Amino acid sequence: MKTYRIAVIAGDGIGQEVIPAGIDVMKIAASQAGFTCDFTQFPWGSEFYLKNGRMLDADAVDQLMKFDAIYLGAIGDPRVADHISARELILPLRQRLRQYVNLRPMRLLPGITSPLAGRAAADIDMVCVRENSEGEYCGIGGRLHAGTPDELAEQTGIFTRRGIERIARYAFTFARTRPRKMLASATKSNALQHAMVMWDEVVGEVAKDFPDIEYRKYHVDALAARMITAPQTLDVIVASNLFGDILTDVGSAISGSLGVGPSGNINPDRTTPSMFEPIHGSAPDIAGKGIANPIAAIWAGAMMLDHFGERAAHDGILKAIEGVIGNAKVRTPDLGGTAKTADMTKAVTAAMVAR
Ligand code: NAI
Ligand code: MG
Repeated sequence: MKTYRIAVIAGDGIGQEVIPAGIDVMKIAASQAGFTCDFTQFPWGSEFYLKNGRMLDADAVDQLMKFDAIYLGAIGDPRVADHISARELILPLRQRLRQYVNLRPMRLLPGITSPLAGRAAADIDMVCVRENSEGEYCGIGGRLHAGTPDELAEQTGIFTRRGIERIARYAFTFARTRPRKMLASATKSNALQHAMVMWDEVVGEVAKDFPDIEYRKYHVDALAARMITAPQTLDVIVASNLFGDILTDVGSAISGSLGVGPSGNINPDRTTPSMFEPIHGSAPDIAGKGIANPIAAIWAGAMMLDHFGERAAHDGILKAIEGVIGNAKVRTPDLGGTAKTADMTKAVTAAMVAR
């Protein structure tokens, strides 16, 4: 039987609560589809940092290279500054494992009421292809004259032709798999006259190879507004690292809850393991209460199985999620109900067994 080796970094806060839910669901999907998943837990995260002074083992990347994929919960703890927890765990893994695509579906599941009144599931069905390796999050810059009135900080954005071209090509190719075959590029070339003008040029050149895709560029502020005023006009969105980060929080908010949106950090070349995680963070405000919505983590697990080529297992999990959300009996507090993480997980696993 085919076995996939999966490294699990549940991480902090509700990461510890939603990842076990996703693992339960993937085990059922695997047994139904005739493969197995072998999960190996790693203790990395803020707790590990407080004990050892580092977020990851020094040889973490070498350890992770032995796996087919990585399943990540969330990283972030009130006792550790966010720039440490993010910059020393998530961003280095994304960069060193060459996961240059960040793929983020944003869908209003049937049965969830969108904060945009009167919108139905057909109106909100977008996927963001976010550049995940350079741009505004490249980490280049520094601080000078710290703590003095002359203090200054510089944060540089790096955009390369190679980086823009490969993310654009991935996005256009992905748009081909979608019924509407549309691609919107997020730019800001009116104000960022170097980087975003080059972004527009390179994306425009790639567009010529995809005449079957309806391509348009939007300034990112107008695009953010359009996601709210006319979400039905958007399908696939390609965006830089920072723009994609912001737009996908808008997308998951209009889909009903941050507790629903999944994400894949993908190396399409498959020379390193890709990493799948919910979009949300560690949610310290609800951590430990057992009320986190596990749907985002479960859906991220389904994306991981799809990445392995296990399309049927992915579809089975999505059907179960849609069934549970659709019949509206089980709702965690973020969706207006009183159910616990465990209730929601049980409902999804029951829906899978009942198929
Ligand atoms: P957050 O996503 O953790 O929480 C934002 C709000 O959404 C909170 O009110 C939270 O209760 C709610 N929420 C999030 N996920 C939920 C779920 N599954 N079910 C129900 N409600 C949910 O973002 P926040 O508060 O800005 O960040 C908290 C910590 O997480 C910080 O340390 C931050 O750096 C970190 N973070 C980590 C990320 C990651 O690991 N990829 C991504 C975003 C933030
Ligand atoms: Mg974010």
